[in-house]
Parts: sequence; structure tokens; C-alpha cells
Amino acid sequence: MLDISINGDVKINSSVMLQLLSLLKENKSIIVNADIVNVLGCIPSESVQCIVTSPPYWGIRDYCIDCQIGHEDTIDEYIDKLTEVFLQCKRILKTNGVMWLNIGDVYTSGNRGYRCNDKKNGARAMSFRPKTPDGLKRKELIGVPWRLAFALQKEGWYLRCDMIWNKPNALPESVKDRPSRSHEYVFMMSKSEKYYYNKVFLSEYGIAGAMKKLNSVINVKNKRSGLRHYAAFPESLIEPFILSSCKAGDYVMDPFFGIGTVGVVCEKCDRRYLGVELNHEYIKMALSRGLRSCDVL
Ligand SMILES: C[S@@+](CC[C@H](N)C(=O)[O-])C[C@H]1O[C@@H](n2cnc3c(N)ncnc32)[C@H](O)[C@@H]1O
Repeated sequence: MLDISINGDVKINSSVMLQLLSLLKENKSIIVNADIVNVLGCIPSESVQCIVTSPPYWGIRDYCIDCQIGHEDTIDEYIDKLTEVFLQCKRILKTNGVMWLNIGDVYTSGNRGYRCNDKKNGARAMSFRPKTPDGLKRKELIGVPWRLAFALQKEGWYLRCDMIWNKPNALPESVKDRPSRSHEYVFMMSKSEKYYYNKVFLSEYGIAGAMKKLNSVINVKNKRSGLRHYAAFPESLIEPFILSSCKAGDYVMDPFFGIGTVGVVCEKCDRRYLGVELNHEYIKMALSRGLRSCDVL
């Protein structure tokens, strides 16, 4: 049953924790409104078959809420925080499970203290910009995705593929001395050397009835959801990840649920989902996208 009473508290209390455990046992889809850091410890080990997620990027978005990840003073603090989150995620993932991690890069700010308003993308205006990390110069690409990938490798994750999400409709950047970037990374990572992976699957998107196989470059247009969240990934980007790495009825977790794209695709593909999101406004937006079969804690 859909329960739309939202607990605006960022901490998770014991009654929410008990409800979470009981819903997991009943194999229900769940959205938790809380700080991910407070939730992960309550989720039993080996609970989910797959993780599909896009964490907040460093210093380029403001989700307008305390405790948000992405506003750390230094790149090392940011990477450490995400590494802790994904270490817990590894515990929660089944031994034969897979994680798909979408993360974008960013340039050093040259110690500019703010980012101007961007008419095309409201969430890009920032009242602060992180300082240029030690050892880097102004105008340098920081290499955030690879820093995180290497940190996760150190913690035991298997880095299985660096996928390039090519965005054929990316808006040109206003730069004159380098190519305009039109891609992001999606890292495929596993918990073990052997894991569940279905090489060929039947997709709802593209040609009806056509079997699909993933390549390391995935061409998917960025699509606006029409909702006031500017960093949601397109459904057609993540559908192949979900279809290839879990079966009907399995759990997919998104620790940074946003407006619930993972939930939307899971409901289409008959998977269960467990999403955690700090900002309750985004959970309301997720529900407005027609999520039907979930409980909200
Ligand atoms: C890149 S967006 C994810 C968008 C999502 N993939 C979608 O399609 O809607 C990252 C999300 O992480 C959330 N977030 C930031 N810090 C968080 C935290 N500490 N705990 C839980 N969620 C957090 C933000 O509010 C934001 O919605």
C-alpha cells in the first residue's frame, strides 16, 4: 500500500528502523527519507542484488538541505565520505551482486568563490565553490570519478568496467581552449570475482522485442524530467543495468534516490527497490511520477 506520510526527519529512529526491517522481509519496495549515513547501518548484510546510483557530485549542485553530500571543503573529504557510504553498500549487496555508479567530473575553480546563475539549469548556481585541491592548478580537471573508483578498489570492490555515458544532446560548454565535454562515467563494480550478469536482455526502450547487449559506450540523450531536480538520470540509461544484473522480484538499491528514476524503472521491470533520499521534496516528486507499489518511511 502506498503510504505518503513523509517523515521529514533526517535521522532514522528505532520505529522507522523496525518498519524498514519488516518491509524488507515482506519484499516490499521502500523509500526512506533520511541522511544515507544514518540509514545504511540499519540495513542487514546481503539484502540487495544490485545498486544503481548517482551520488551528488562535488561542489557543483546545491540540493538545498543540511547534511547533503557534495559540499565538503576538500576533495579528499568528499572521496572519504563516499567511500564510507559505498563500503556499507558493499556489505548490503549480495555476494554475487553488482553496482552501477554514475559520477561526473569537475574542473578546479581557480579559487572563484561562487558559480553564476545558469538560465538553462537553475541548480548550477552555487553560493560557494570548493578550493582548488592541493597539488592541482587552476583550470585542471580533477579526475573525481577515477579518484573514487581507485578508493573503492582499495576497499575491496572489483572495478569491472568504466562505461562512458555519451550524451548526444549535451549543450556545448562556453569554453574556447578545450573540447566541450559531453560524457560522464558509469563504473560497473562487483563485490566478488564471480557475480550475476545477464549478457543479453529484452529492453522496453528502442526497437520493440529486440534483445540488447551492453557496450562500454552507451549513447543516451539527457532528458529533463520536467520536475525541479536537475540531476536525475534518464530511465533508458539505467534500464540495461537493472535488466542485466538482477532478476524479477530482486531488490535494487539507490542510496541517493533523488526523484526516483530507479523506482520508476524497477516498477516497469518488476523489480523491488530500496531508495534513500535526504530531501523530502524530491520524494514527493518521485511519488508524483507514478510510483505505486512502495512504502515511504
Ligand atoms: C545526483 S542526485 C540523484 C538523482 C537520481 N539518480 C534521480 O534519477 O532522481 C543525488 C541526490 O542525493 C541526495 N542527497 C545528497 N546528500 C544526501 C545524503 N546525505 N543522504 C541521502 N541523500 C542525499 C540529493 O538530495 C540528490 O537528490
